[in-house]
Amino acid sequence: MSVTGLLGTIQQIGRDSRTGGYHRPVLSAAELDLRSWFIGEAEQRGLDVDVDRNGIIWAWWGAPRTGSVVTGSHLDSVPGGGAFDGPLGVAAALEAVEVLRARGVRTDERSLAIAVFPEEEGSRFGLACLGSRLLTGKLSADRARALTDANGDTLGDVFARGAIDPAHLGRDDEALARIGCFIELHIEQGRGLIDLGHPIAVGSSILSHGRWRIRVRGQGNHAGTTRMQDRSDPVVAAAAMVGAVSALARDIDEARATVGRFEPIPGGTNVIASEVNFWLDARHPDDQVTRSLVDSIETACVAIAAAHGCAAGLTEESWSPRAEFDPTLARELLAALPGAPLLDTGAGHDAGILAEFVPSGMLFTRNPTGISHSPEEYAEDADVDASAPALADVLERTLT
Ligand code: HGY
Ligand code: MN
Ligand code: MN
Repeated sequence: MSVTGLLGTIQQIGRDSRTGGYHRPVLSAAELDLRSWFIGEAEQRGLDVDVDRNGIIWAWWGAPRTGSVVTGSHLDSVPGGGAFDGPLGVAAALEAVEVLRARGVRTDERSLAIAVFPEEEGSRFGLACLGSRLLTGKLSADRARALTDANGDTLGDVFARGAIDPAHLGRDDEALARIGCFIELHIEQGRGLIDLGHPIAVGSSILSHGRWRIRVRGQGNHAGTTRMQDRSDPVVAAAAMVGAVSALARDIDEARATVGRFEPIPGGTNVIASEVNFWLDARHPDDQVTRSLVDSIETACVAIAAAHGCAAGLTEESWSPRAEFDPTLARELLAALPGAPLLDTGAGHDAGILAEFVPSGMLFTRNPTGISHSPEEYAEDADVDASAPALADVLERTLT
């Protein structure tokens, strides 16, 4: 089957028929369906499947052993996400196994595994790349277990319901030792390739990025009986803060700052909110610049809150320092893909977390508009299908 054909078999899972966007939160019914789909497809290809204590699915071609070549990606999505962010890398890996087999490649010397990481987007529990952070110990099991989703369900309870015993979450040195190198193929979330007129790129680095929650407390009250001059309205304060976030980021070259989630409490039409929570996503190629941007945003929020008779506080929920992919591995990937450009990315990935522990690399498949985290995310069938042989070229080079 082709990569487009494989993706076609899951295109209705978690899809919003109105918007065309995908809602596939980790261990939701939709993502559980995708996990079953992957396991079935892997087993059909004769791979040995294991789900580890952190909920990472491993599909092995050859015995699980130290120094193996690992590829893969994730299946969870952002709310209203596109069809390719995550699943493209998983489907391309499944097809790449077929291509390698057809070429007569064997895994007698070095095994190959496809890994599917849970909660890469951090859309349910707020922390990006949760699975790879647990695997590497970047996230403690206790902190993970206590994370809660929008319904107030803890990660521990949700994982237990998904047959992943939360008591066993945590750093897994044996699994880590089995990764000789990790190579993730992903749709490009940018316009680098379309502007260069090339179908595939090798990743060089990921800029630093993090997520912070900003809580603004005011005075809840009646929308009709409270005069304007008597209000401490946290929505008005928070709206001014969002403007400040954008203005401060625009003043710094290459900085990005986004507020995509804004939640007034209680959220009644005729109610002055008592509180607003909104989340900041801030990024820059330099860790310190991201940090200082967030500091200036925090200072601005506190001042704006005071001017509106409110109070504001900022809490860090997720932090990923700039990640450099292994230069030696990158050279191998470039040698396997003649003419492919080297591109950095503004998007976080499990490969970025693993890069601190094992040689990691990425391949990016051309995205004609560069749009991602949107139903409009798109890749041409020809480029999607070419991902499998390209990934196979790279895997063959690292396997032999
Ligand atoms: O948010 C990101 O950069 C990635 O898509 N998880
Ligand atoms: Mn994403
Ligand atoms: Mn992704």
